[in-house]
Order: sequence, then structure tokens, then C-alpha cells
Amino acid sequence: MKAVTWCGIRKVGVDTVPDPKIINGRDAIVRITSTCICGSDLHLYDGYIPAMKPGDILGHEFMGIVEEVGPNVDQSKVKVGDRVIVPFCIACGDCFFCKKQLYSCCDNSNPKSWLAEKAFGFATAGLFGYSHLTGGYAGGQAQYARVPYADHQLFKVPGEIPDEQAVFLTDIFPTGYMAAENCNIQPGDTVAVWGCGPVGQFAIRSAYLLGAEKVVAIDDRGRVPERLKMAEDGGAITIDMRTETVYDKLLTLTGGRGPDSCIDAVGMEAHGFTVDAVMDKVKAATMLATDRPHALRQAINCCRKGGIVSIPGVYGGVVDKLPMGAAMQKGLTFRMGQTHMHKYVQPLIERVQRGEIDPSFVITHRMPLSQAPHAYEIFNKKQDGCIKVVLDPAA
Ligand SMILES: NC(=O)c1ccc[n+]([C@@H]2O[C@H](COP(=O)([O-])OP(=O)(O)OC[C@H]3O[C@@H](n4cnc5c(N)ncnc54)[C@H](O)[C@@H]3O)[C@@H](O)[C@H]2O)c1
Ligand SMILES: [Zn+2]
Ligand SMILES: [Zn+2]
Repeated sequence: MKAVTWCGIRKVGVDTVPDPKIINGRDAIVRITSTCICGSDLHLYDGYIPAMKPGDILGHEFMGIVEEVGPNVDQSKVKVGDRVIVPFCIACGDCFFCKKQLYSCCDNSNPKSWLAEKAFGFATAGLFGYSHLTGGYAGGQAQYARVPYADHQLFKVPGEIPDEQAVFLTDIFPTGYMAAENCNIQPGDTVAVWGCGPVGQFAIRSAYLLGAEKVVAIDDRGRVPERLKMAEDGGAITIDMRTETVYDKLLTLTGGRGPDSCIDAVGMEAHGFTVDAVMDKVKAATMLATDRPHALRQAINCCRKGGIVSIPGVYGGVVDKLPMGAAMQKGLTFRMGQTHMHKYVQPLIERVQRGEIDPSFVITHRMPLSQAPHAYEIFNKKQDGCIKVVLDPAA
């Protein structure tokens, strides 16, 4: 089959690789009909997540048709021919953490747990196509994928929901939604969202679905004007981090109190125009720090006293100069994590069915899988108005 492989920093290829096979009794093989590139893939592309090996198959946002199931798959839940979406984190459904709906913390799905134990103290769930720290699973930017725990991992999609809406239930819609849910939004609340990438876009719309009065979105208009425009289309008031002072504008918009909650939908590759952002860049480039937490620092600083900082943006290592004093003194609550996908898929399918949101709004590019190297390049460089790419493995 054809698959997108990681070949080194900022190098991906489209290679012919062996077809996946059933290895365990609860596995299924899915023929992929739609697959996407995520901002999280850019952290691999740029070389910020360790434990990638050349030849690893990328991709964790994919859906398709079940082609084969192992002998232990509960066929009352999933069978050959079903059209399914595949959440990016792999969860067994039976362990201590899965029983608490903390699916991205599943204790059984990461077969290389010793690597993550060293890095994080405990191993987290396996993730598709996301380095050997999270299990070394082959990803879904490919024509086929092996899916473990298939009767828990796969969700059937109602026929009337097309791929272009359903495929975002594998990651970015639940991720934006969990980020907003973590803000415990109350009537009258203002939510500020750093980053207007796909995750930020879904966080903005989810904050409104959950009752926010006002959502303020922050990004760089000089670099990604189309993203701020999309945020405005979603009802957000926008702040241009290049020409405006984010703190001052947020205060003006909240009567001097600060946002009730702040969402960091940027993560470890933030850029910025202040001294700390320049220092982050230098430190990351010289390996003195791994992550660049400029947006997170700003979110902590701007958040109102007693507010919530919600962090869907991915961090992979250690951060420098985090204003812990501000967080502690203001009594902030931090909530974060890889999304507990399986908790959100069904309720969000129902929101799509009720017409509350059409997730396809975020798509700017559709391409055949063979053009993945070009797609990675324009998504990474934010060129050609690229916000979200959907790849077709059959084209
Ligand atoms: N928690 C999860 O389960 C989960 C799932 C998916 C993605 N993510 C993470 O969410 C983050 C966003 O993903 P994405 O697909 O939207 O990525 P993206 O790269 O497309 O978007 C990031 C945006 O942040 C903006 N930005 C950079 N520095 C900024 C700053 N200082 N202030 C405001 N905006 C700034 C960029 O201009 C860009 O528009 C990534 O870190 C990704 O890894 C997490
Ligand atoms: Zn993703
Ligand atoms: Zn589990």
C-alpha cells in the first residue's frame, strides 16, 4: 500500500510499504477513505517530538471502511463493511483509566511503555502515527491501517454524515470541544483562545456551543490573516498579536477584569514578538529548552483571578520561565491533556446530526495522498491560505 512516512526533520515521503495485518484478536483492518494532517504532525515534522524513526508511518486523523476483523472482535459492535471513524488515541476500554473515561491515559495500549515512563513518570495511551513514545503505531496517512481494540476503538458513522464532516471527529473537533468544556463556561463568560489553527477554530465554536457570551481569538494577522477571518466568521472578536498588545486589548474587552478562561491552542511551537519569545527560539534552537511556551505565559498573565487556563496545545518536554507565581497568586486552575476522544465522539456526532455545527468549515485544501509532501510544506509554512488539508488515499 501507499503511506506517508517520516524521513527526518521536515522531510516526508510517500512510499510503498507492506499492508498491515491482524496481529491481535481484537484488531481490525480499515481501508482509509479520508485522512488529514494535524498541527500535532507538525511537531513531528519539525523534529520536536523525540523517538521518531525514519520510515515511521504518519497520521492520526483518519476514517474508512472495515475490511477485516480479528477473531475476538465483538461483531455486535463492529463488523466488516462498517463505515467508521478512528479516534487518534488508542484505548482498551477496560483498564482503570478507560473506566474513568480518561481514554488518552489508557494503561494497556502503549506497548513501548518504558520509553514514556522514563520521560513522563508513567506511560500514556498509544497514539496512531505519533512516535515510539506513544507506542510506535503505524499511522493513518495511508491506504490501510491496523486498529487495535476495534470493538471499542471504532465508531460507526451515520450514512448521512459525509467524510468531510465526520473525519474531524477523530481529533480536532473533540479536542476543541474538550478544551472549551475544561473552561467550565458559565453564562456571561468571556473565553480567550490563543491560536486560530484548526484546534483554535473548534475551540471557538465549541465555547459558543457551551454558552460563552464572548470569545476572543488571538493570532498573527500578518502571517495568517485567513485564520483570523475564519475565527471572525465563527463569531469571535479577534486580536492581532503583531500590531496590538494582547493584554491591553483583553482588559478593554472585559471591563478590566481579564478573560474568565484562557485556552492555549498553540502549544510548543509558539512564536511571538516580545523578548521572552525570542529567548524561547534561541533556547530551543540550541537545545537548552524543548518547548516554546510564549502563548501559555501570556494566557497565564492575562487570565482573570480565579480563572481557568485550558491547554489543548501539545507540550512535549520542559518549558522555561513559566510564570508560576502569577498562576499561584491569582488562584488559577490548569486543565490540559491529550483529548479523551472516546467520551466525545457520540455526543458530537449528534450535534452534527442536529445541524448545530458543520465541521467541514475548516477545510481549505483537498489533495491526493501522493501530494502529502507538498501539503506538509504549505501547512507548516502557513502558505496558500492553508488551514486544514484532507488527503484522499484512493486518488
Ligand atoms: N490535546 C490534544 O489532544 C491535541 C489534539 C490535536 C492538536 N493538538 C495541538 O493543538 C495545537 C494546535 O493545533 P493546530 O492543528 O490548530 O495547529 P496549527 O499549527 O495549525 O495552529 C497553531 C496556530 O497558533 C498560532 N500561533 C503561534 N504563536 C502564537 C501566539 N504566541 N499567540 C497566538 N497564536 C499563535 C499560529 O500562527 C497558528 O495559526 C498544536 O500544539 C497541536 O499539537 C492537541
Ligand atoms: Zn491531531
Ligand atoms: Zn484502557
